[in-house]
Amino acid sequence: MLSEEIRQRKGSSVEGKSGAALRFAFSVALICALTATCCAQAPAGSAGDPDARARQTLQQMTLDEKIGLIAGVGIGMPLGSAKQISYVGRGVGFAVGAPRLGIPTLAENDAGLGVANQGGVIRPNDFGTALPSGPNMASTWDPELIEQAGAMMGSEQRAKGMNVQLAGADNLIREPRGGRTFEYMSEDPLLGGTLTGHIIRGVQSNYIVSTLKHYALNDQETDRGGLSVNMDEEAMRESDLLSFEIALEIGNPGSVMCAYNRINGVYACENSFLLNDVLRRDWHYKGWVMSDWGAVHSVSIRAGLDQESGQRSPANAYFGPKLRDALKAGTVTVDDINGSVLRILRTMYSLGLVDHLITAPQKIDFDADGKVAQDIAERGIVLLKNDKNMLPIAKSTRRILLIGGHSDVGVLAGAGSSQVNPAGGPALSLPIPGQPIYHKRMYMPSSPLKSLRELLPDATISYDDGTDPARAAAAAGNADIVLVFVEQFSQEGRDVTLTLPDDQDKLVSAVATANPYTAVILETSGPVMMPWLDNVSAVLTSWYPGQRGGLAIARILTGAVNPSGRLPITFPRDINQLPNPVLPGSAQGANASGNTPAAAVFDLKFDVTYPEGADAGYRWYDRKKITPLFAFGYGLSYTQFAYSGLAIKGGSDLTVSFQIKNVGAIAGAEVAQVYVPVNGVRHLVGWSRVNLNPGETKAVTVVADPRLLAKFDVKRDCWQIAGGGYSVEVSAAVNEPRLTGKTHLKARILEP
Ligand code: BGC
Repeated sequence: MLSEEIRQRKGSSVEGKSGAALRFAFSVALICALTATCCAQAPAGSAGDPDARARQTLQQMTLDEKIGLIAGVGIGMPLGSAKQISYVGRGVGFAVGAPRLGIPTLAENDAGLGVANQGGVIRPNDFGTALPSGPNMASTWDPELIEQAGAMMGSEQRAKGMNVQLAGADNLIREPRGGRTFEYMSEDPLLGGTLTGHIIRGVQSNYIVSTLKHYALNDQETDRGGLSVNMDEEAMRESDLLSFEIALEIGNPGSVMCAYNRINGVYACENSFLLNDVLRRDWHYKGWVMSDWGAVHSVSIRAGLDQESGQRSPANAYFGPKLRDALKAGTVTVDDINGSVLRILRTMYSLGLVDHLITAPQKIDFDADGKVAQDIAERGIVLLKNDKNMLPIAKSTRRILLIGGHSDVGVLAGAGSSQVNPAGGPALSLPIPGQPIYHKRMYMPSSPLKSLRELLPDATISYDDGTDPARAAAAAGNADIVLVFVEQFSQEGRDVTLTLPDDQDKLVSAVATANPYTAVILETSGPVMMPWLDNVSAVLTSWYPGQRGGLAIARILTGAVNPSGRLPITFPRDINQLPNPVLPGSAQGANASGNTPAAAVFDLKFDVTYPEGADAGYRWYDRKKITPLFAFGYGLSYTQFAYSGLAIKGGSDLTVSFQIKNVGAIAGAEVAQVYVPVNGVRHLVGWSRVNLNPGETKAVTVVADPRLLAKFDVKRDCWQIAGGGYSVEVSAAVNEPRLTGKTHLKARILEP
């Protein structure tokens, strides 16, 4: 898959997917590839050239119109003149277009797990297809499928009248307790960046804009509005920034959203290094930068911010009255404003927002869209343990007991700005004490119990809600097998612990003591600790499995689907294995215990260092020689695979070829991962997901992304591969090499 990936990245920017656009982009890509230069989308000055069209429109705009376009208004504000052109659905914000010039209003709505409708209150009785969470999507290691997810949710966003989707959440999961782990993809920059890029590309195939967010290093919620992540440039470039760089190349997002936090003391939305130097100069980014909601602290247009988002008080906003004051004072010029407006306009032209106006709400095919959510869940659920071949459930099993997690009615989802009000309505929507009405704990309407009863009609399947461990254990003793559903709710704005809440560990232990044939099904934002692991027979993590998650879980438990998910995040054995055993910022005041959730305060100015630096996630475990509970890349199947025939081509590029055979009795998919130690720490450099029938063998070729073989040279502002010998591992998980070899790479500088 990666050779195709690299071809697409070099050709870059397929903007929209109409036949003509695709043919044009393809010929541009071909010319780019042949001449090895960076190409514009069309010859400058031609009728289709977005830059020329943007310049022409800009000339006709008044200052008020320009400021309207860069002053994004927040939820709750009247749409007012936003309604003047085309149909504008109600989302979480908007920036008024220029109707007399054919420029539509930018109608913005979250997010990356489907069309959000927080708590179901923004648009009452309006529903979207709820995708599985980010880690579930990432566990598929399947860029094409993830692009379908983006295309699906982008089409729903468009159908609801909104042309900016605040998707593309690409923060690295370097802090597994991060409250938004369920929105993000991975701890690895190649996996996370690649999949996020495909989400974005899918969204934008609907002639709407996707963001890429939250730029950058917004890797935890505790004190997200105040903390400063202090990290040297080399470490950032090789971790978080690399993930953004890859996502940007693949997805070509119309907008990049700068984050709440500070980086080396400077707020992300006024961080000229990140916005002007890295994003625009080094990555040649042509879209616009919008702020996160409430993340602006000055009229930072010269530092690289183009648009303030989510203004609550337009009369007192930065990009509003304060910008006009700055114009008068001469600290900002009309040329500065023109630059920002041009970037927005050229993006609207290039992505098709102007030529494909949204004029009316459209009908949504929820059945077809639900199928996408189901496909992802089925490929993204990870089987972590399966002793005694407990799974798949034998057809002869007669008495099955389900316990806990509201598994009689649905599956859990995360909350916050990304929350989708699922098609068909939530199975349960519980208020969260002390929080506003748009914060709800929602369960998606897909009942594991119901699906299991349908799939196993000869079994007697009962349910216990798990609130009384003694009662549940007594019932477990009378069952042939027990399926315990455990859950960890997570929401934007608060970090979590790695301990399952509400004494669920005790529940599992009690049940497992009563019945050794106990399987645990996790519904969590990310990793959790499992003190009972040795006492249960099977474990699978469904993450938050989305709209059809209950069905997907049941199909995996019964063997209708062979599990093929692989972990995109390391599961630590305990918090002492983490680089920061005490959650950064929590001990200083937000929360004294250091391991309990703390709100995303905005007024505490903490400095945070991540000791792992560039070695986030599994790289840290590799560097420190720590064995985690479950390693990055790990996951079981109901079949087995054999690897053979390793051939490595070094020199300027690294190409790794090998064969995989399904040596078991049923069809399945393997995710073959290629790792190369760089300065003694393994880096994922590529992978291939391969479907295999029983007995089938396939040849696989993986081309390494050269940046994962390189170090970033800050002085020369480029990537450098050190010439010399390298080990290459083809692995089933980062700590499970199946084939190993050596090669030689030439010293090489990679031009930015
Ligand atoms: C979140 C963003 C989101 C925005 C608008 C912020 O709180 O950080 O991810 O897009 O709200 O809802």
